[in-house]
Amino acid sequence: MNDTAPVIDVVNLSKAFGPKVVLSNVNLQVREGESLVVLGGSGTGKTVLLRNIMGLLEPDSGHVAIEGKIVHQLDREGLFEVRKAIGMCFQMAALFDSMTVFENVAFALRRHTGMTEAEIVDRVDECLSMVGMKGTQALKPAELSGGMKRRVGFARAIALKPRILLFDEPTTGLDPVMTDVIGRIILDLKHELGVTSITITHDLKSAFEIADRIALIFRGECIACEPPDAFKQNPNPVVQQFLRGDADGPFLQDPPPPKRALARVVHNPLQLL
Ligand SMILES: Nc1ncnc2c1ncn2[C@@H]1O[C@H](COP(=O)(O)OP(=O)(O)O)[C@@H](O)[C@H]1O
Ligand SMILES: [Mg+2]
Repeated sequence: MNDTAPVIDVVNLSKAFGPKVVLSNVNLQVREGESLVVLGGSGTGKTVLLRNIMGLLEPDSGHVAIEGKIVHQLDREGLFEVRKAIGMCFQMAALFDSMTVFENVAFALRRHTGMTEAEIVDRVDECLSMVGMKGTQALKPAELSGGMKRRVGFARAIALKPRILLFDEPTTGLDPVMTDVIGRIILDLKHELGVTSITITHDLKSAFEIADRIALIFRGECIACEPPDAFKQNPNPVVQQFLRGDADGPFLQDPPPPKRALARVVHNPLQLL
């Protein structure tokens, strides 16, 4: 364990939408060069966590600090600088459909750097090579398979040489072979670029391959965050159920409705609509 300051520091982060508490006092630290995998069921706030890290959502309480800077306290320029350090790989790739692969990867380079066209051509080629997509510059997203789209999304995310990479469910919807390929590319990027990363995934196999530490979010709280071996041995029944993928156990049971909501049903059911 090294003792340098964390690159990503999530401190007592809470976020609700109306009465729905999504994240509750979440604490997570990711150190330089470390790969953190975040597991959790659908709708447990994993994307909300990433959006807080990117400064796309503001916490209700607590904060996220990136390289020591508290994200929600930054002005426009400060936020822009922080976002430049982060490469975001969105769920389902989110490529611009009307643009070619080249234009998708070149987009941020054209916008945010003073690179010449020749330099951009070289950088796009380099990024596509890193994700095994060399020579696909002229294709449109509609001509790509799901796995290829994700890889182009990765190439776009690394174009500006970010120090941090965030992957939001990079393998959801892919077949097991492509899931493996994507996992290996994430590992390659970690080793070649030395980036600090958070990967959100449902895929346990790639989680164990790419993680230095694994966190599990359950009912808005981070209930475990530890190296893969310790995570496997974690006695928490929720962790064990997640590892087994069982339908029985605490993990898939709905939480009891809050008492306040029940009381309101009695007085005025329309308030809940
Ligand atoms: N901008 C928003 N406004 C209202 N509710 C939201 C918003 N973003 C997310 N949510 C809700 O927060 C919960 C967690 O969402 P999300 O982080 O996308 O889940 P997941 O863990 O599947 O990524 C969901 O119930 C979702 O409906
Ligand atoms: Mg999500």
